[in-house]
Amino acid sequence: MKYDTALCRLVEKKEIAKGFFDFRVQNTDLMNNALPGQFVHILVPGKTLRRPISICDVENGCMRLVFEIRGEGTDILSQMKVGDDLDILGPLGTGFKIEKGKKYAFVGGGIGTPPLLYAAKQADTAIAVLGFRSSDAIILKEDFEKACSKVYLTTDDGSAGHHGFVTDPLSEIIGEVDEVCACGPTPMLKAIALIAQKNAKPCQISMEERMGCGVGACLVCACKTKINNVEGYSHVCKAGPVFRAEEVVF
Ligand SMILES: Cc1cc2nc3c(=O)[nH]c(=O)nc-3n(C[C@H](O)[C@H](O)[C@H](O)COP(=O)(O)OP(=O)(O)OC[C@H]3O[C@@H](n4cnc5c(N)ncnc54)[C@H](O)[C@@H]3O)c2cc1C
Ligand code: FES
Repeated sequence: MKYDTALCRLVEKKEIAKGFFDFRVQNTDLMNNALPGQFVHILVPGKTLRRPISICDVENGCMRLVFEIRGEGTDILSQMKVGDDLDILGPLGTGFKIEKGKKYAFVGGGIGTPPLLYAAKQADTAIAVLGFRSSDAIILKEDFEKACSKVYLTTDDGSAGHHGFVTDPLSEIIGEVDEVCACGPTPMLKAIALIAQKNAKPCQISMEERMGCGVGACLVCACKTKINNVEGYSHVCKAGPVFRAEEVVF
């Protein structure tokens, strides 16, 4: 399979919380093919390996990419200027499958929240449950308020919203939704998968693994899965990042 890279012009850049950046980039082909839950692989100047960033949204002729500075690569990325071109490979991976007429809970933890925004915008009815470590790390709350009928907010330290984890509000509302879509740290995804299973609700989860090539060639991103009753390893970059919860062996 051939993977295309594209030069995408950075047309808008904002720091939406300390160390969190919101980029709007332009490339028509990339945007036309982007599905919610997919990611792009960005070549950072001076680095050999690309960095995977989720597609946060596609609106007003731009693709939104929201990221946190975690290390050297994302730090260099954050210093790019409006008018620069980003070398982007994608869209890559599988997306969330959003069906007409269903009511979804979108559950995001920290920097796992961005891909859920574009997914929530595709749903007929959406409730968001967003969890952050503290009030100064809250991102995209207003965007989710526009896309969803209700937004539950939690913080680990109680500095905003409910003091606790996303699993608390999710346990209260799980009875009123048809399906759950989640993205965030693995322990959070494991807990959400369990709640969904106990309540017999389908659940899609987006896994985050360290990545190399991003296209199924290097095996860096393998995660343990059970698909069609066969246990093995799947490439998160190609078979995922979105899996049905029961397919992932935690
Ligand atoms: C499918 C997917 C979607 C993602 N979406 C987002 C997003 O929307 N916003 C966001 O802020 N972050 C996202 N991440 C995490 C982001 O890719 C890492 O934070 C970033 O690669 C760190 O790079 P760095 O050079 O700053 O850090 P370093 O630790 O210096 O990176 C060293 C190497 O490890 C890789 N790496 C480090 N951490 C991760 C990680 N968590 N996941 C994958 N590779 C990693 C880097 O790509 C690089 O090759 C996503 C990860 C995946 C797998
Ligand atoms: S990152 Fe290379 S196989 Fe997935």
